[in-house]
Amino acid sequence: MSELAARTKEELLALQKEVEAEYKGYQEMNLALDMSRGKPAPSQIDHANAMLKEMKDFHTKSGLDVRNYGLLDGIPELKELLGELLEISPDQLIIGGNASLNLMFDAMMRLYVFGTMGEKPWGQLEHVKFLCPSPGYDRHFTICETLGMEMIIVPMTENGPDMDIVEKLAAEDEAIKGMWCIPKYSNPEGVCYSDETVKRLANMKTAAPDFKIFWDNAYGVHPVFEDIKVLNILDECKKAGTDNRPYYFFSTSKITFPGAGVSLVAASPENIGEIKKIMGAQTIGYDKINQLRHVQFFKDAQGLREHMQVLAGCMRSKFEIVLDTLEKELAGTGLISWKSPKGGYFVSVDLLDGCAKETVRLAKEAGVILTGAGATYPYKNDPKDSNLRIAPTYPTEEELQQAMNLFCVCVKKAGIAKLLESK
Ligand SMILES: Cc1ncc(COP(=O)(O)O)c(C=O)c1O
Repeated sequence: MSELAARTKEELLALQKEVEAEYKGYQEMNLALDMSRGKPAPSQIDHANAMLKEMKDFHTKSGLDVRNYGLLDGIPELKELLGELLEISPDQLIIGGNASLNLMFDAMMRLYVFGTMGEKPWGQLEHVKFLCPSPGYDRHFTICETLGMEMIIVPMTENGPDMDIVEKLAAEDEAIKGMWCIPKYSNPEGVCYSDETVKRLANMKTAAPDFKIFWDNAYGVHPVFEDIKVLNILDECKKAGTDNRPYYFFSTSKITFPGAGVSLVAASPENIGEIKKIMGAQTIGYDKINQLRHVQFFKDAQGLREHMQVLAGCMRSKFEIVLDTLEKELAGTGLISWKSPKGGYFVSVDLLDGCAKETVRLAKEAGVILTGAGATYPYKNDPKDSNLRIAPTYPTEEELQQAMNLFCVCVKKAGIAKLLESK
């Protein structure tokens, strides 16, 4: 289809009628599909079911009984496995509970209540600001909002956050205490940070001495089409002499069971010492039975990588449905642009300004729930009302195709109405 903005008012009105009829057709189908969250499909999760079979051995190599208390920072076998997977020294990581988001929230709370390396606790400061590369992950923004931080939007580029802006803001304002990063197959755009971006993050000057990078590598081993190598922020910060700047997070939520996997936080030895001291007051230790189950299931890092290949095989066709349908129905219309991710969980699209909320509303009225418009921005407020996140993994291929067909009709309906406003 050709660029719709170039059409006359009459041509657009004629097209609007066609699209309206298509939309009505979908409304009559009584669809009930939920594409709002990035959840794996049950068929994908099934691949980890063998982990739930009866455990025969409850002991670590060193003879520790995982059914009993002990080991605040996790069993050595899992630390080794995940350390090898992520190229992090096992003594620089702590295995957490079922959710990395919990570790991120706790990290933020420690900074608020205790501060770090002798700096004033953030909770005692008049103003705390955080850089939020956007579009980004809504739950990161909810943590900031819950603690009353001021969130500052930083635009994303194809190489990661716009580093000219990050460097300028971080250097000039000591109230800016840190930033969120999703370095690989970012949520929602699938962006992988370039080597230059990672190096600049490690080397940049920050006005706040306790500036923290929350490095949420949630999709670190989640290729769908191509495995991309992203530099390790811990190594780059060590080289730059900013060892204490990053907290690195990871989990197996999208590897084994969402909400029932294992998570980790990794950091400099000094940071790990600080974290353990406070964490030791919070818990005697996380769920070591689940940790051992993960080790027994994967055996080693290579086993986990192979498992991810199986999952990529489950997801590839779904991503293709999304990308092919966008291409077939909307390429060249000028109503939408999108990025083709190499991995991760989402496809991010940008509509004409002012069309995202309307597109979500139209889809909902025809039975398809999308991630809310604005969810990818701080305060749920996308200043242009244009970005939407498509989460293709949960529905079956058939449902996804239906949902995508409807989605494209909604994009056309909202887009044509927007173009007609100025004709
Ligand atoms: C970027 C990002 N971080 C963290 C999470 C949640 O991870 P967890 O289940 O380990 O809390 C998600 C889930 O969608 C995510 O997209």
